[in-house]
Amino acid sequence: MGARIVGVLNQKGGVGKTTISANLTHALARMGYKVTVIDLDPQGHLAVSLGMVAVDRAGIDEVMLGTADIDQQLLEVRENLNLIAAGPRLQEIEQLAAGGAARGGLLSRALRQSLHDQDFVFIDCPPSSGVLVANALFAADEILIPMSGDFLSLQGLAYLMGTIKRFEKALRKHYKTALLMSRYATTRRISREVLNTLQKHFPKQILATVIRESALLAECPSAGKTIHEYRPGSRSARDFRNLAQDFLENKVM
Ligand SMILES: Nc1ncnc2c1ncn2[C@@H]1O[C@H](COP(=O)(O)OP(=O)(O)O)[C@@H](O)[C@H]1O
Ligand SMILES: [Mg+2]
Repeated sequence: MGARIVGVLNQKGGVGKTTISANLTHALARMGYKVTVIDLDPQGHLAVSLGMVAVDRAGIDEVMLGTADIDQQLLEVRENLNLIAAGPRLQEIEQLAAGGAARGGLLSRALRQSLHDQDFVFIDCPPSSGVLVANALFAADEILIPMSGDFLSLQGLAYLMGTIKRFEKALRKHYKTALLMSRYATTRRISREVLNTLQKHFPKQILATVIRESALLAECPSAGKTIHEYRPGSRSARDFRNLAQDFLENKVM
């Protein structure tokens, strides 16, 4: 049995993909699971969030361009948690000339050959729907969709679900897909309304724990720490511990 490969996906920026990728993976690693998280966003924010400031260091870019093996690119950033950085050449992948499936399968092919000792491989996707995201969809078994509690993210979701369906058809596979509220503002009525709408359209697909909006989560990246290090006793740290349980037990609303 290989690792469960999870794409953290939403073409909208600022919905919490990177925050989820850093804090959920660290929660799982702290529970003893072996986790590798790949920064597939050329902006490299995941590495920064995990305290790696050398943003020019090679990572998944060289793997996808065929000039390095995955195992050479693993950075042990925490106990049980490896990071594969984006690398400065990741942007080039979006512009690769070679067509179709060969271009989309770069990451999938690389992953099939390694990381078999890992329990989970998470892929933090960029806010786009280009070749990089196609690579994540080729590689992933599961998709985790962070949703911020605003109206426009609902609009984008229909588009995203359409993309996922097209890949399922083309690749003849079925993703285990879960949604999660990643920036839930308890005091805002629109957050509640968005959640209600989601529950109506995606019953049994929304993880039970919502990640609430909190200043602490916004501060973490500047310290290069996850919430479990920055404020382990906070309700945000608790949200992520609960979310990790939901993820493992498939606990949904
Ligand atoms: N639950 C939350 N509470 C407060 N701030 C958050 C929360 N989730 C994300 N943020 C902040 O919002 C911004 C965008 O989040 P990020 O995870 O980078 O989104 P994405 O990766 O989808 O673009 C970041 O500054 C992040 O710190
Ligand atoms: Mg991001």
